[in-house]
Amino acid sequence: MIRDVLRMGDPRLFQLSEPVQAFDTPELHALIADMRDTMAHLDGAGLAAPQIGVLLRVVIFGVKSNPRYPDAEEVPETVLINPVLTPLGGTDEDIEYAWEGCLSVPGMRGVVPRWRRLRYQGFDQYGGVIDREVSDFHARVVQHECDHLDGILYPMRIRDLRQFGYTEVLFPDGSMAGDD
Ligand code: NI
Repeated sequence: MIRDVLRMGDPRLFQLSEPVQAFDTPELHALIADMRDTMAHLDGAGLAAPQIGVLLRVVIFGVKSNPRYPDAEEVPETVLINPVLTPLGGTDEDIEYAWEGCLSVPGMRGVVPRWRRLRYQGFDQYGGVIDREVSDFHARVVQHECDHLDGILYPMRIRDLRQFGYTEVLFPDGSMAGDD
């Protein structure tokens, strides 16, 4: 079922979400089905459970080759629960700045610093272990989605607010159409 996505200003987006305690349950599968329907409907790259008002540490993401992300590598369709992120590297050179959008901040884009390389660990909906080392766009998507679990929206990480604005003004050629 397609659910409403909360927009910035809703206090639920600033809450700390709780870990999932039980895997492979009907409730968890129903939540993920709703998240998938909602993300597909809005053509998003990822979605976190709190964005539909469920304060659990569940994110989904995935990008097939998409004209909206001309420079983006593909990111495998992933369900990631109770994630733990570990930056790899750790110097300023390991930080990359790039444009992001968010389904909870429709119509806008901003330049956000993220770790370029990252290890992420967690579980899928069946309790299977996920443990990956990724970089660049894949790493960025994971960091963006997992931030939602800690009540952080990307505008809170922008260093220079001059690099934050309306998508159609920033990219009048339509190259960044869509909301996330
Ligand atoms: Ni987002």
